[in-house]
Amino acid sequence: MPLIDVTGLRHAIAGRPVLDIPHWSVEAGRHCLLLGPSGSGKTTLIHALAGLKRPDQGRILLDGQAVWDLNAAARDHLRGRLIGIVFQTLHLVAALDVAQNLHLARWLAGLASDAGAVAKALDRVGLGARLSARPDQLSQGEKQRVAIARAVVTEPKLILADEPTSALDDENCARVLDLLLEQAAACGATLLVATHDGRTRERITDRMELPRLSALPAEGHAA
Ligand SMILES: Nc1ncnc2c1ncn2[C@@H]1O[C@H](COP(=O)(O)OP(=O)(O)O)[C@@H](O)[C@H]1O
Ligand SMILES: [Mg+2]
Repeated sequence: MPLIDVTGLRHAIAGRPVLDIPHWSVEAGRHCLLLGPSGSGKTTLIHALAGLKRPDQGRILLDGQAVWDLNAAARDHLRGRLIGIVFQTLHLVAALDVAQNLHLARWLAGLASDAGAVAKALDRVGLGARLSARPDQLSQGEKQRVAIARAVVTEPKLILADEPTSALDDENCARVLDLLLEQAAACGATLLVATHDGRTRERITDRMELPRLSALPAEGHAA
């Protein structure tokens, strides 16, 4: 059974088609790149997979469960049990320290409080000494590593990473990909990385390519 199984997925935003995916699946334990130019719907698809944004049409099975047939509470539970997300804009909670951000992720996932798991996840990304730092005391690279640690502290089966390397120089790009691949291996997870960054393409061979279905509004094409 595939971990991700998408059928007949369609979505439009403000009347413009954004996603049209007849069928796509990812086997458990594989890693996959989600490719496509800016505006091709990568973030929209990630949010649909994660149960955060309901698509107009279609079926998304995660580990055999139809995400959008569940009620909101069951969907939250499925997300917590199955998925770790590294958002494009990190979304660390500024009022909480690094360790508390990870504790919050476990709490939201319905997992027992576990200081050992939090310390271990931070240790694995090289931040074992920064448990009580606040996000605004960290560099951008450190914040990103916290976001990665937070995504894996729940031991997800699926790690969704939205453009994790686009703002990074080559060296840090390689480092973040290594880190994501290492973390995926450590929890036996499937990694789905949304990117338009060509530098990621050698490291992960499976790919799903999204076309841009309509022109961006900023481009000013007459329809
Ligand atoms: N909240 C929104 N309001 C209007 N348009 C949106 C909104 N979110 C996304 N879009 C549009 O939907 C399309 C797909 O966006 P997105 O999923 O963010 O693409 P990507 O992540 O590949 O850059 C783009 O054309 C974008 O402009
Ligand atoms: Mg995006």
